[in-house]
Amino acid sequence: MTATAETTPTASATPTLEARGIRKSFGSVDALSEVDFEVRSGEVMALVGDNGAGKSTLIKCIAGIHPLDDGEVRFDGERVSISGPKDAVKLGIEVVYQDLALCDNLDVVQNIYLGREERDWIGRLREAPMEKRTAETLRGLRVTTIRSIRQQVARLSGGQRQSVAIGRAVMWNSRVVILDEPTAALGVAQTQQVLELVRRLSEQGLAVVLISHNLHDIFEVADRITVLRLGRNVAVYERSATTQQEVVHAITAGIPTKVAGISSMEEPA
Ligand SMILES: Nc1ncnc2c1ncn2[C@@H]1O[C@H](COP(=O)(O)OP(=O)(O)O)[C@@H](O)[C@H]1O
Ligand SMILES: [Mg+2]
Repeated sequence: MTATAETTPTASATPTLEARGIRKSFGSVDALSEVDFEVRSGEVMALVGDNGAGKSTLIKCIAGIHPLDDGEVRFDGERVSISGPKDAVKLGIEVVYQDLALCDNLDVVQNIYLGREERDWIGRLREAPMEKRTAETLRGLRVTTIRSIRQQVARLSGGQRQSVAIGRAVMWNSRVVILDEPTAALGVAQTQQVLELVRRLSEQGLAVVLISHNLHDIFEVADRITVLRLGRNVAVYERSATTQQEVVHAITAGIPTKVAGISSMEEPA
C-alpha cells in the first residue's frame, strides 16, 4: 500500500474502502442518490445524518445486504463486486449492527465464533484454541472488565456486550470495521470505554466507520466526518477543522456542495 506525507500521519493515502456514485431506491423512495463515501486505514470516519438520511442503507449496500442500483465500490483502489455479505466478509469488511445480534444464552467464546467455529477432523469443537484466541483478542483490545469468557453474554453490561461484538468483528483479518450506533444504549462510563476501543481499532490500522448521532462521541474519536442528508452527500469535514455547530448545520439545513437540483435548500453562509 502506498502512503504519502500529505495525509493524516496514521492514515493511508489510498482509501481502503471507497464507494462512488451510489444510488439505491426502495420503490419510490430514493434512499441514496450519487453518494460518495470513503475510509482509510488508520482513521475513524464518522457517518452522520438525521433519521432516514440513508446511513444504514449505505452501510448495507457496502456490506452486500442490498444490491446497488448504480455506483461502484473500490477496495484498496480496485473495483470490487460485492453481491452478498460473504463477499464483504471475504474482503475483510465487518459490520457491528445496532442490535449487535449476540446470542444471550451463549458465552463470549461461542458468540465470537458463532458460525465460524473451529472443529477437529471428526467435527468436535476445538475449545482450547478458540478460548485462547478469544482471550488474546480481548486482551489486545484492552477489554479487561469481562471476568470470564465462558460467561453467558446475557450477564454482561451493555458496554461489555458491545466489546464482544467488536471483538467478533476484528478477529478475522478485518480491514474495515463499521459500527452502527455503538454507544446508543450506553451510560457515560461505558460509552467512554467503547469510544476508547473505537480509537484503538484505528490505531491498530483498521479503517473504522462510526455511525452515530451523538456529536460529542464523534468529536471525541473521529478523524473525518461525512454528513448525509436526505440520501445525498452534504459534506466531508476534517474533525480538527470544523465545529459541532457547523456539523449540526450540515445535518439539519444542509450545505449542498456538489449536488445539483436542490440549490433551493442552500442558505447564505
Ligand atoms: N428495506 C427498506 N425498504 C423500504 N424503504 C427503506 C428500507 N430501508 C430504508 N428505507 C428508507 O430509506 C431511507 C433511508 O433509511 P436509512 O438508511 O435507514 O436511514 P438512517 O440509517 O440514516 O436513519 C428512509 O426513507 C427509509 O424509510
Ligand atoms: Mg440507521
